[in-house]
Amino acid sequence: TLDDLPADLSGQVALVRVDLNLPMKDGSATDVTRVEAVRPTILELADKGAKVLLLAHFGRPGGKRHSTLSTSMVVGDVEQVLDKEIMFIPEIAGPVVAQSIGILRAGDIGLLDNTRFWPGEEGNDPNLAQAMAAHGDFYVNDAFSAAHRAHATTEGLAHFLPAYAGRSMEAELKALDAALGNPQAPVAAVVGGAKVSTKLAVLEHLVGKVQHLIIGGGMANTFLAARGVNVGKSLCEHDLADTVARIMDEADHAGCTVHLPYDVVVATEFAANPASLRTCNVHEVGEDEMILDLGPQAVEALADVLKTCRTLVWNGPLGAFETEPFDAATNALARTAAALTLEGSLISVAGGGDTVAALAQAGVADDFTYVSTAGGAFLEWMEGRVLPGVAALET
Ligand code: 3PG
Repeated sequence: TLDDLPADLSGQVALVRVDLNLPMKDGSATDVTRVEAVRPTILELADKGAKVLLLAHFGRPGGKRHSTLSTSMVVGDVEQVLDKEIMFIPEIAGPVVAQSIGILRAGDIGLLDNTRFWPGEEGNDPNLAQAMAAHGDFYVNDAFSAAHRAHATTEGLAHFLPAYAGRSMEAELKALDAALGNPQAPVAAVVGGAKVSTKLAVLEHLVGKVQHLIIGGGMANTFLAARGVNVGKSLCEHDLADTVARIMDEADHAGCTVHLPYDVVVATEFAANPASLRTCNVHEVGEDEMILDLGPQAVEALADVLKTCRTLVWNGPLGAFETEPFDAATNALARTAAALTLEGSLISVAGGGDTVAALAQAGVADDFTYVSTAGGAFLEWMEGRVLPGVAALET
């Protein structure tokens, strides 16, 4: 970690991999959480006198320069969060980078262009990694959310320079270890979202790790259908019935209880507050109805489960949370989890795609023990996979 670096870094150049893949609208970021996450690392290195060179990807330009995908697009947002001026450098290696380093003073910050403009980034080309490494004295990876990619700046650089985990990477790995690596039992996992097919590996890994597996969203429909429940017009992957039955069996053998709802919120059309809205038992869903959220009894039962647990890992919403009132179950269970966390009885870790947005909408994102900034990397970690960016730091 950064604790292993000398206290005085004057004269040294730090190559720092961050994740600035920010959601954008009309030329500026709509959410700067990822910049806030890397702020402590950047400022700590700058305060110790290093020249800090930030490396980041932005979108998926496919190995070619693309004017709208330059990291220059986020310079203003980064400057605002850091409250410091930064120098934009339109290359990632070579004479322009060397000249820019010559201009930077101790404690100054530079941002290199989108690493994915160069095909060697995604190809993890050692020649590119070596060319970048020539500019730095050490490498810091503070981009957990890109650590599932074995790219030159997320993995390759660690082979050419002394490598350190940044503060955000360090916090992320500690939180994830407390949640699934070495957790306090009983552990509950909430896995929601639309499709079982995108989370099969997650479910398979979790049944052997947690005592309670709470299934929500469209995924719950597939589980219910596999148990012979008629889910009407609901989003459902009927072809996965055998797979789901196998996962339920594995859970049984491993002592993991799979929680499916008893009651659900249904409607004949998917719209905000539709006239056809009603709550019913899962066995009473009509042919022309679709399940859009868990019902209040189910939420109450799940809240009781959380009260018996010490650790919670949450990925994915319980219902169609972007549309009212199908956010009710997600909001209610998230608030229970937040209250238990604040009381000190639960360690709660959440991450991945829609999850952060769902918790923010419930107004509890700050009350969880840890909310990951990662999407794909969080899911791969939940699948129990080794993340190449983390493995490279460890070796
Ligand atoms: C993300 O936004 O999840 C990360 O920045 C990784 O982006 P990628 O999926 O394009 O590799």
